[in-house]
Amino acid sequence: MNNIAILTSGLSRGSNFESIANFFKDRDDVNISFVLITRKKAPIIQRCEKFGIPHFFISTKNYELFEENLLKKIKKEKITLIVLAGFMRKLSENFIKNSVPIINIHPALLPKFGGKNMFGSAVHKAVFNAKEKESGVTVHLVNDNYDSGKILNQQKINISDCSNPEEIGKRVLELEHQIYPETIEKICNGEIKLNFQRK
Ligand code: GAR
Repeated sequence: MNNIAILTSGLSRGSNFESIANFFKDRDDVNISFVLITRKKAPIIQRCEKFGIPHFFISTKNYELFEENLLKKIKKEKITLIVLAGFMRKLSENFIKNSVPIINIHPALLPKFGGKNMFGSAVHKAVFNAKEKESGVTVHLVNDNYDSGKILNQQKINISDCSNPEEIGKRVLELEHQIYPETIEKICNGEIKLNFQRK
C-alpha cells in the first residue's frame, strides 16, 4: 500500500487534489492519507469532505515548527510519497533529507518559466508574453531550489491559438488533471523510478 500526503497552501483551489482523489477513489493500492492545509478555513476542505479524505491543519507562522510538525505527521501516518498540489512555499533542505520523496507539478515546460514567484497565473502570463507556441506540464522531484529537481514526466500542448494567459492556463490545467494522477500511479507501481537518496 502506498500512503500519499497532499500538501496545499492557503487558498489553494484544490483542482489537482480533486483529480487525484477521483483517480484513486476505488483503488486499494494508493491511499490519500491526508491533505495538509495551512489555513483553518481553506476552500479545499469542502473537496476533502466530498471524498471523505482527512485534512490536517498546521500553521506556517513559525516555519521551522511547521516543518517539524509535518515531519511527525508524515512518520506517524507512514507516508511513502508527498505530493505538492498548489503548495507554494519552499521546503528546507533539512525537511527534504529527513522526509520521503516529494513531487511537484508545475504548469509549464521546465526548466523554462520556473523559479521563485513563478506559480499559477504568473507562469501563464510569462509564457504568453514570451509568445510561446507550446506550453505544458512538468512533474518533478522536489529539491531545495524552486522547480529544479529531476523531471519525472513532462507533456507539451499547442497554445499557438490562445489569445490570452487565461486560455493558456485553462488548457494547461486540463492537462495537469490528467498527467498528475497518472504520474503518481507510475511512481507507486515502480514504472517511474525516483532514485531518491537521503543526503
Ligand atoms: C496548479 O496549476 C499548479 O500547477 C500550480 O498551482 C496550481 C494549483 O491549482 N503550481 C505551481 O505553479 C507551482 N510552481 P489547484 O489548487 O487547483 O491544484
